[in-house]
Amino acid sequence: MRFAFYDSVMPPINFQNPIGVFDSGVGGLSVLRAIRGQMPEESVVYFGDQGHVPYGPRPLKQIQNFSEGITRFLLAQDAKIIVVACNTASAAALKYLRETFPDIPFVGMEPAVKPAAEHTETGVVAVLATPATFQGALYASVVERFAAGVELLQNTCPGLVQQIEKGDLDGTQTRKILEDALNPMLEKNIDTVVLGCTHYPFVIPLIEQIVGEKVRVIDPAPAVARQAKRLLEAGGLKSPGGAGADVRYFTSGPADAMKNLLPKLSGENGIVQPAVWLDDHTVKSK
Ligand code: DGL
Repeated sequence: MRFAFYDSVMPPINFQNPIGVFDSGVGGLSVLRAIRGQMPEESVVYFGDQGHVPYGPRPLKQIQNFSEGITRFLLAQDAKIIVVACNTASAAALKYLRETFPDIPFVGMEPAVKPAAEHTETGVVAVLATPATFQGALYASVVERFAAGVELLQNTCPGLVQQIEKGDLDGTQTRKILEDALNPMLEKNIDTVVLGCTHYPFVIPLIEQIVGEKVRVIDPAPAVARQAKRLLEAGGLKSPGGAGADVRYFTSGPADAMKNLLPKLSGENGIVQPAVWLDDHTVKSK
């Protein structure tokens, strides 16, 4: 299979073109980390919308507008595929993005309710995600398709995304937010925690301290990276490697703050360039 867009509209594709990845902030770096681990030969352009983070409490329509603006931005950076490394943006906009850019391959996120439901023994599963993710049709459809007979306990962990944006992965406040969410769920006998927000894999060590080793914590990032790889292979878009893959970062927030967090969150240093929103639909590099 090849994508019609590349066959008919574009000049011959440069396989070295980057994978575009975006999130409301640094959460998508958990997905970037998995992409880099599985496909070190691929270049990546990453956009963190830190001028607007958190997305979770915002109206779905506004998140959709931001997502469209960022997609256009990434395509202008020659992205050959877009990974929506944000559950909230996927919930609000993935369907719309696929309709609006029918020739661009997208990979999105959905809470990993399916593997959780397949493996739970107690039949009680925790799902941690943002309010917008829980409101979206995507989550409703995942629950309807996969969660029959399973009790799902949901929590939005208010403030957790902001703590992670600050790089606070194990401080008192971060711990309290997670204990408040998880302790009542432990009393109800959960044996699985689904991380339905790409920021949350960064606090897996803390979550594991709270829930103990008998509770399984599901990080969807490796599966999403595998899906991106499958899509690139199927579309004949994989980089043959050899030309020195690089990662470029853009943020609509303070560039230095993201730069300082990169080694801690993605395990790599990088140059972060600032971007600025002209309106809810349009973002440009400064
Ligand atoms: N990383 C996000 C997600 O996966 C967004 C969190 C937020 O901005 O509220 O849902």
